[in-house]
Amino acid sequence: MTATPHVLDPQIVEAVRAAQQVMVLSGAGMSAESGVPTFRDAQTGLWEDFDPEDLATPGAWQHDPEFVWAWYAWRIGLVRGVEPNLGHRALAELAQLRPTTIATQNIDDLHERAGSEVLAHLHGSLFRFRCAECGAPYDGAVEVPDKPVERLAPPRCETCGERVRPGVVWFGEDLPLAEFEATVTAIENLSPGDVALVIGTSGVVFPAAGLPAIALAAGATVIEINPQETEISDMAHLHVRAPVAVALPPLVAALRD
Ligand code: APR
Repeated sequence: MTATPHVLDPQIVEAVRAAQQVMVLSGAGMSAESGVPTFRDAQTGLWEDFDPEDLATPGAWQHDPEFVWAWYAWRIGLVRGVEPNLGHRALAELAQLRPTTIATQNIDDLHERAGSEVLAHLHGSLFRFRCAECGAPYDGAVEVPDKPVERLAPPRCETCGERVRPGVVWFGEDLPLAEFEATVTAIENLSPGDVALVIGTSGVVFPAAGLPAIALAAGATVIEINPQETEISDMAHLHVRAPVAVALPPLVAALRD
């Protein structure tokens, strides 16, 4: 279990080339080069004094739903205004070359916009909404101001009239069960020789942070792609210490040849 500085470590190319299945577990670092800040990055502007871990909670919503909604509206606008990066695009191509399954902790839609199918959004999606009271899905209009605003009234549920909330998983909430179970099953179905790519996650938020261990137990080769060492680095057999948009395109290009 050694750190390798080379993006195109032949062992990594060979591992992916030999795999019958590739499981991708992506986190916020996947979208960093698209311009979406990661969770451990400092926030800027209106939200610079707030830690995402304090805003992304049921307690924050109870306390001040309009402030929390304004933060999500800003993030929706931010994600709409950026593009998938070369890493997202390389994964979409990888799926043409090897059976590839993606489970992401990200609430953006950049994998999909790059052309990938996503098995699971483990922490929900910025583009799904539901009533905070009755749980009814909401697909009505969502206002996204041009500039960040400090407070914004959430839309009202078309069924019960209560506030609509973001369809994301806040700290302390359960993950979407069907998507989490589908992810665990996909990982358990990996065989020795298959590969799990653990991309751009700090590996501190459970239960998602426990998924690489399931891949390891299944006998898969675990490859971490992250410029930094993480809580789960020790678990990986191989490491690419580079950003995704640098690491993934040459890996996929090598498989193409
Ligand atoms: N390429 C690859 N990895 C990167 C890049 C990049 N360009 N830039 C940053 N990273 C890495 C960082 O080194 C870090 O390890 O991405 C990781 C981002 O970590 P977090 O911000 O903690 O993101 P993540 O692990 O997805 O967070 C988990 O925490 O707040 C919650 O629900 C939220 O889904 C999120 C969860």
